[in-house]
Amino acid sequence: MNKKRILAMTTAALMGVSMMACGSQAGSTGAATDAGSTDTATASTSSVANKDKPLVWYNRQPSNSSTGELDSAALSFNKDTYYVGFDAVQGAELQGQMIADYIEAHKDTLDRNGDGIVGYVLAIGDIGHNDSIARTRGVRKALGTGVEKDGAIVSDPAGTNTDGSSTVVQDGTVAGLTVRELASQEMKNSAGATWDAATAGNAIGTWTSSFGDQIDIVVSNNDGMGMSMFNAWSKAEGVPTFGYDANSDAVAAIADGYSGTISQHADVQAYLTLRVLRNALDGVDVMTGIATADDAGNVLEEGKDYRYDEANRSFYALNLAVTADNYQEFTDATKPYGPVANQLDAAKSPSKKVWLDIYNAADNFLSATYQPLLQNYDDLMNLDVEYIGGDGQTESNITNRLGNPGEYDAFAINMVKTDNAASYTAILNQ
Ligand code: BGC
Ligand code: CA
Repeated sequence: MNKKRILAMTTAALMGVSMMACGSQAGSTGAATDAGSTDTATASTSSVANKDKPLVWYNRQPSNSSTGELDSAALSFNKDTYYVGFDAVQGAELQGQMIADYIEAHKDTLDRNGDGIVGYVLAIGDIGHNDSIARTRGVRKALGTGVEKDGAIVSDPAGTNTDGSSTVVQDGTVAGLTVRELASQEMKNSAGATWDAATAGNAIGTWTSSFGDQIDIVVSNNDGMGMSMFNAWSKAEGVPTFGYDANSDAVAAIADGYSGTISQHADVQAYLTLRVLRNALDGVDVMTGIATADDAGNVLEEGKDYRYDEANRSFYALNLAVTADNYQEFTDATKPYGPVANQLDAAKSPSKKVWLDIYNAADNFLSATYQPLLQNYDDLMNLDVEYIGGDGQTESNITNRLGNPGEYDAFAINMVKTDNAASYTAILNQ
């Protein structure tokens, strides 16, 4: 089923390329058809300059990938620019707590080889991605395995630490048991794609063949990698495995022993992603259908569903833990969120064209959870969205397909690397 989606995206991508090719052939003035010049009949009906069109960054917050510092120029590119993501720290704490609770509840049976140590391995998504860093820190904090440097828990991969000699982690204690991070690494494939599920599947093979009997728990920064390790090893061994994202396949696997995941409320994020664009296009307050109900009755609850950081123009969805106790409520990750699932009136919110990219068409969370949600909401919001799927490695693979921004009314951007916002804004500034 995943294959089908990727295929569909590839086809759409190809169509996009050929359409762009036609577009630039059609006018030898082609290069100048930006800025929504009104003489391009096929373009959007907008006469707004590209640099003034609504823009939303989502899932990857413009920021410095080594320091985490937010890129405020990108976040305030124009008056209708926002970021939509989720509360990384709150979610990371939940994930850490969920694992600590599990250890406490199973303390008598967890230590498989009886060496007195509860050993875990950790799959890291992207060492330069705020969310990945937060999750690594959250787990280390809750299990007592983190070491602090300059006031923050070190998030570097430990490599192999079966003897406990690593300097980036230390042995912790939970419920009177010693806990050790036996190994952790960034799951990046040789072509450069991060959060790579196949790499995680290989890593668990390598780890288990040299110290499998020491591994009592498997932890992952996301479900894509977590499920890959679960299917390759821990499911058959009955070793508890924890992920993040609450993708439908991971939630279903809880019935087969996957121990838990975190919902980053993708149903709220996908809504917000399109909603902030819709509001700007309609010229209404940005909080319409968010903090305050719109005419169709859509409204979210601040503090429960999301929080807003005005200084950074960032909306963050709030996370929920998903375990054997409650997973039944999360089985369909692609269903619109009830309180915001009402159709907008096309007379007040007429059809508009949106360019939207997904940094990696093969990312489990974005392609199997986020995009199907966006596709449900785009209908409800009368938005005609063109979905572009990237290869997860090369920014230009995506920016090349933003050749005719004048044809769109608004943009939703998911960067390959969080440092690269300027590659997009430069195109809109032309
Ligand atoms: C998700 C990951 C995903 C990443 C992509 C994260 O928020 O949890 O599964 O791979 O975003 O940027
Ligand atoms: Ca042990």
